[in-house]
Amino acid sequence: MDVQRWLASAVAAVGEWQDGFGPFQPDPSMGVSDERFASVFGAFTQRLRNNYPFFHPSYAGQMLKPPHPAAVVGYLTAMLINPNNHALDGGPATGEMEKEVVAQLAGMFGLDSHLGHLTTSGTIANLEALYVARELHPGRGIAYSAEAHYTHARMCGVLGVEGTPVETDAAGRIDLGALDALLAGGRIGTVVATAGTTGLGAIDPVHEVLAVARRHGVRVHVDAAYGGFFTLLAGLDGRAGLDEAPWRAIAGCDSVVVDPHKHGLQPYGCGAILFRDPEVGRFYLHDSPYTYFTSGELHLGEISLECSRAGAAAAALWLTLQLLPLAPDGLGAVLAAGRRAALDWAALISQSGRLQLYQAPELDIVCYFPGPVSGTLSGIDDASVRILKAGMEREQPVFLSTLRVTAAGMSERHPEVRADRDGARILRSVLMKPEAEGYVGELHARVERLAAEAAD
Ligand SMILES: Cc1ncc(COP(=O)(O)O)c(C=O)c1O
Repeated sequence: MDVQRWLASAVAAVGEWQDGFGPFQPDPSMGVSDERFASVFGAFTQRLRNNYPFFHPSYAGQMLKPPHPAAVVGYLTAMLINPNNHALDGGPATGEMEKEVVAQLAGMFGLDSHLGHLTTSGTIANLEALYVARELHPGRGIAYSAEAHYTHARMCGVLGVEGTPVETDAAGRIDLGALDALLAGGRIGTVVATAGTTGLGAIDPVHEVLAVARRHGVRVHVDAAYGGFFTLLAGLDGRAGLDEAPWRAIAGCDSVVVDPHKHGLQPYGCGAILFRDPEVGRFYLHDSPYTYFTSGELHLGEISLECSRAGAAAAALWLTLQLLPLAPDGLGAVLAAGRRAALDWAALISQSGRLQLYQAPELDIVCYFPGPVSGTLSGIDDASVRILKAGMEREQPVFLSTLRVTAAGMSERHPEVRADRDGARILRSVLMKPEAEGYVGELHARVERLAAEAAD
């Protein structure tokens, strides 16, 4: 896709639409000459060079990559109009697009009914889920695993709800026995299952969490902000295929969050919350004397906590999903390549004398540490940080991230490592670009070289 060509088409298409409204005199107060713009733009693009190359497979660090070119063109085209999806008064076209993509997301999870909308982030989407949890079970708390995203505890604080972390098992998944015991106490109204944890990419057994929760009359919210689109690989044959059970169980849970700005190829500003019971819309009832006047149909602001939201985000997602639909051979193919890359790298690390796998990857996150297993936590921490730094300074760089693990977590997986402190940073790579699959050999060679140097 030639982005330059389609960006020019975007400006032309919006200009043609604008011309239909007749001429008017632009105000000189906002006038900027091309010469002046050129000088400021030069400085601006220069400053943007101070970035990590998220687009390149040598960037194997955090959950970051540029959006699909179609999403860029979709976003910028709609942004020239700048619709606001709060209400159909502010963004009739993009409001309709949002309803359509939300229905597609609900279909991906197999929900047979839904109420939902896009949000600016996974954090806000989860906040909405926890808000509804509080309204449905006033006075009862929310449980989530100790590996859940940190914002669950924070948002419990914001909502004035008691949040309780539940210990995890040796694979980083919520411990079902501990959950069962906690729910038996009757204090919890909703449990959050994470389908793809941020640190390790572990999948809480949503089907088993659901069974335990229902036994105690407790609701289940699924935080699939990072992992949700992997649903497309559930039950598939081949190496990238995933066990169906946790993914299919999402359809029976009460709410689910998925972030198109993570694995949905979108620019930032695009999360989504879906509730299975449309009746929860009653908790959003409010009076807005200045909106909701052009249509009797549902305005998205009537069912969301946020007011203004970029209609451009819905436009970008709508355009992207027309081209790469929510199907195994659409967007699924992109995720499958990252998953195979993670499996390939894990296999290489398992055979390496320089690197150790912290645990087998479940999705596309690989966690590993330098040195022989007989090392100490402080030695692992020190070498991990040195590799992270040295990797970025090389002529042929490699960009990784670190993950802080506890001494208990390490000893469950690698009892030989001596716990001379309470935890250590290890190395973590999210292989979310499909190009990672063809680059894993190179990545591994670079990180092994760095590990060899760190050991000297
Ligand atoms: C599982 C999970 N939940 C929630 C979030 C928060 O999402 P956001 O950064 O879009 O606010 C993340 C971010 O990485 C995540 O991985």
